[in-house]
Amino acid sequence: MAKYSPFKPISLPDRQWPNQTLTKAPIWCSVDLRDGNQALINPMGPAKKLEMFRLLLKIGFKEIEVGFPAASETDFSFVRELIDKDLIPADVTIQVLTQARPHLIERTFEAIQGAPNVIVHLYNSTSELQRRVVFRADKSDIVKLAVDGAALIHTLAASCAGTSVRYQYSPESFTGTELDFAAEICDAVCDVWQPTKTCKTIINLPSTVELSTPNVYADQIEYFCRLFKHRDQSIISLHTHNDRGTGMAASELGMLAGGERVEGTLFGNGERTGNLDIVTMALNLTTQGIDSGLDFSNVKEVRRVAEFCTEIKVHERAPYAGDLVFTAFSGSHQDAIKKGFEAMRESGQSLFEVPYLTIDPADIGRQYDPVIRVNSQSGKGGVSFLVESELGFHLPRKLQVAFSKVIQQITDETGQEITSAEVASKFLSTYVHPPALLTYSTHTPLECNVDEQERHRFVGTFKGVPYELVGQGSGPLDAMVHALTDEFRLAFDILDYQEHAMEAGSGSAAAAYVLVKAPNGEERFGVGQHKSIIKASIHAFVAAVNRSLQHAEFE
Ligand code: KIV
Ligand code: ZN
Repeated sequence: MAKYSPFKPISLPDRQWPNQTLTKAPIWCSVDLRDGNQALINPMGPAKKLEMFRLLLKIGFKEIEVGFPAASETDFSFVRELIDKDLIPADVTIQVLTQARPHLIERTFEAIQGAPNVIVHLYNSTSELQRRVVFRADKSDIVKLAVDGAALIHTLAASCAGTSVRYQYSPESFTGTELDFAAEICDAVCDVWQPTKTCKTIINLPSTVELSTPNVYADQIEYFCRLFKHRDQSIISLHTHNDRGTGMAASELGMLAGGERVEGTLFGNGERTGNLDIVTMALNLTTQGIDSGLDFSNVKEVRRVAEFCTEIKVHERAPYAGDLVFTAFSGSHQDAIKKGFEAMRESGQSLFEVPYLTIDPADIGRQYDPVIRVNSQSGKGGVSFLVESELGFHLPRKLQVAFSKVIQQITDETGQEITSAEVASKFLSTYVHPPALLTYSTHTPLECNVDEQERHRFVGTFKGVPYELVGQGSGPLDAMVHALTDEFRLAFDILDYQEHAMEAGSGSAAAAYVLVKAPNGEERFGVGQHKSIIKASIHAFVAAVNRSLQHAEFE
C-alpha cells in the first residue's frame, strides 16, 4: 500500500463558485487570543493579552475569540478581567470556545457572566479519521455529543441574565468529514438551537488541517451549503489553516462558495503552519477596491504589537507587512515603478496604477522612499527615483544615465548597497555644489541698445579672485556664457537646457539642468536650484563649468 493517497475530489459538476467574484468584506473574527495564543512557545500572559485585545479593537474587529476559559485558568481570568473592568466596547462581541462536555460548558458560562454580548463557540471533531482513530466512536455518538452540548448551552444561555448569547458550532476537522455527515450534525445542532433568519447561528467550517487544493475546499463549502437544511438561518464561517500553504486561497475561494464570515489571526499565527492571515486577506480586498472594514493604515504598528505579543517575527517577504515587500532590487522594476509614480503624478489620477505594486505603500503607513534601494544591480530608474523623492529633482533622461553610472561605480567598488540619503548627498556634491573654481553671486541688467539682446553685469569669483564682468546675449544665461568666454577664455557651449518648478515647500521655486560642451569637447551636466528660475539656470551653468574645470571625474 502506498504511503500517501490523493484527496478524493468532490463530485460537483454544476459548481457555481468559480463564476462568483468577491464584492464585499466578510464578517471578521480574530482568533489571535485563542487559536493563535494556544500555538505559541510562550503563550501570552495577562498584560500581553490585553495589549493584543486593544490592538484588535483598534484595527476594528467586532468579533474576537478571547479564549478557551474552561480549559485554562489564564483564559478564564482574562475573560473575567475584560468583563469586570468593563473593557469590551458595546459594539464588540467576545467569543469563547468550549468542547461539548458538561463541566466545560458550565465553567464557560461562569466565565461570561455579566458580559453584554457573547458568542459561545461549541466544537467537536467529526472527521472520519478522528472518529476511527481518536474517539473510536460511530457517527451517532459524535452527533449525540454535539447535540447534548448544544442543548446544555441553550439551557444555560436562557438563564444568563443581561447577556446576549449567540451560538457558534464547528464540526472540527470539517475538511476530513463526509459532507453529508457534516450537514447532518450541523442540522442536528441547529434543531436544538432553533436559529431564525433574524437570529442566526454561526456554522464554522474549519479546514482544521488543510488536506487538498483550495478549489476542493470551495467545493466542500458550496456542497455543504446545498445539503445543510438551516442554511438560511445560519452564517457560514470559514476557518482555514495553512498546512499546504494555501490557507489564504482556501478562504478566498471559500467566500466565493458561500462563506460570509472569516476567522483568522494577524500575520497567520496559529497551530502548525498557522491560521488564515487576516492582514493579508483584508488588504487583498483593499487592492480590489473593497472596503475591508479593518484599519491597517499603520501596518508597522500592528506588526510591532503582534511581534511583541507572539514573540514571532513577521517574515521579510510577508505580503504588505514584510520589510522587503516595497523594495525593488531589479533595475527594470525600479524604472517601471518610477514611471508609474510619475505617470500618476502627471495625470493627477487617483486610481493607483504602479507596475509591480498592488497597493500604495502610503495607504498602509509605509513610505515611498524604501520602495527602491540601490545596489550594483539597480538601473537609472531607481537612482533617479531616489533623487526625485529625496530632493525633488526630476532629472532629464541623459542626466539619469550619467548619474546612475556615478552611483554604480560606488556600489561596484564597495560591493554594498547605498542608502537613499547617500544617493542624495552624492547628487548634490556632484551636480549642484561641485568644487568651485568659479562662483557667481549676482547679476544686474544693464542698458542695451542692440535689438533682442540683453546686457548684464555679473559678480562672483574665479580662482578665489573677485570679478565683475559684463556680457551680452539673448538673455542672462547667454550673456554669462559670452562674458566668461570673453574674460577668461572659458568657451563653453550650452547643448541642453531644462527647467521645472520644484514641489511647494522645498524652499526653492525652480530647478534648472544645463548640459555644456567644454572647449576640449567633453560634455558635463550642472544643476541649479533657486527661487528665481534665471538664477537657477546660471547656477546650473556655473556648476557644469566647474565640473569641467575639475576634470577628475568621467562619466
Ligand atoms: O482549527 C480548528 O478546527 C479550530 C476549531 C476549534 C474551530 O480551531
Ligand atoms: Zn483552528
